[in-house]
Amino acid sequence: MSPPSTILVTGGAGFIGSHACVELLDHGYELIVVDDYSSSTPQAFARVERIAGRFAGAVYELDVRDRPALSAVFDRHPVDAVLHFAAYKAAGPSTRRPVEYYDTNVGGTTALLRTMHEHGVHQLVFSSTAALYGDAGHGPLDEATPARPVNPYAASKWICEHILADVCRRCPEYTVLCLRCFNPAGAHPSGLLGEDPRGTPGNLLPYVAQVAVGRRERLPVFGADYPTRDGTGIRDYLHIMDTVEAHRIALDHLADEPGLHVYNLGAGRGSSVLDVVAAFSAACGRPVPYEVVPRRPGDVPELVADASAVARAWGWRPTRDLTDICRDAWHFQRLNPHGYTDSARRPNTKR
Ligand code: WQD
Repeated sequence: MSPPSTILVTGGAGFIGSHACVELLDHGYELIVVDDYSSSTPQAFARVERIAGRFAGAVYELDVRDRPALSAVFDRHPVDAVLHFAAYKAAGPSTRRPVEYYDTNVGGTTALLRTMHEHGVHQLVFSSTAALYGDAGHGPLDEATPARPVNPYAASKWICEHILADVCRRCPEYTVLCLRCFNPAGAHPSGLLGEDPRGTPGNLLPYVAQVAVGRRERLPVFGADYPTRDGTGIRDYLHIMDTVEAHRIALDHLADEPGLHVYNLGAGRGSSVLDVVAAFSAACGRPVPYEVVPRRPGDVPELVADASAVARAWGWRPTRDLTDICRDAWHFQRLNPHGYTDSARRPNTKR
């Protein structure tokens, strides 16, 4: 089976999705992109096109749960494989809106699988999350670490992985690669694309960047009483360009890895919230003010990757570190002080 050439990217206007579009275009793939713009904007594609120097792919505004609309896309285009990013991804809000998270993330994945099967498409790269490990204690986590999700977002991704594994056991025609992302962060070095969420950022890096550029007064540090070296949460921040490079490489391996395979995507380095504040202060040349507040529900003390399996299998290792992440995130925020998502039209769907 030859490597895929036309890729359907779900959630292609989002943070990881839009950077993945640049990576795939830079490596000669043809793209079909779908997104409901509930947490993104079609303006991302204009920026993708400026960076890649080409796009001209087909873009459809749709919710992946809308099977008739999704089926029409497969009817129109010769999809070879799917890169599935479309999902709600905020740990905290998922504890307040669990049904929406399960419906969107699990329902969206099953709707996609059914539509793929109806069109004879059986190659999928599923962007999963390390959050499914839950509170797994200190030290690097490998793929054999038991899944103990502690919030509906993480649980929804774990349920998707379970469904995908069962489908692959029963249907030998499928090839599925699940990539458990630790914490993608940073921005494209051009400064044209970056993490630009609607409204108040849920994730740490965009919030810090918005404080640094003066859009927000100070960073709320969610707890300084965790059992970590400085009391704040420790995560494995992976540069977004390393993240999407791994997703692109996964597409190249769909042809030679039938069945389901799971890989951690991380740098293998833990950074605390205060480490990130210090690194970002160095990147922007001024202190980033912060205030310690109570813990956020659904958070865990530490999540750091053992990503040796993907290095052994594909020879992939991240080449960028926290300094690169903060430099690129600051470059993006400085060039886009008010971002480009919030100023864009908001669809009539609640996030
Ligand atoms: C990181 C640390 C917070 C914001 C989630 C998903 C994961 C991935 C990334 C998709 C924690 C602290 C944060 C703030 C803070 N999603 N924090 N103040 O929750 O580890 O991971 O997003 O790819 O799958 O689970 O990321 O950036 O929200 O939090 O103190 O304003 O920063 O408590 O310790 P998280 P995060």
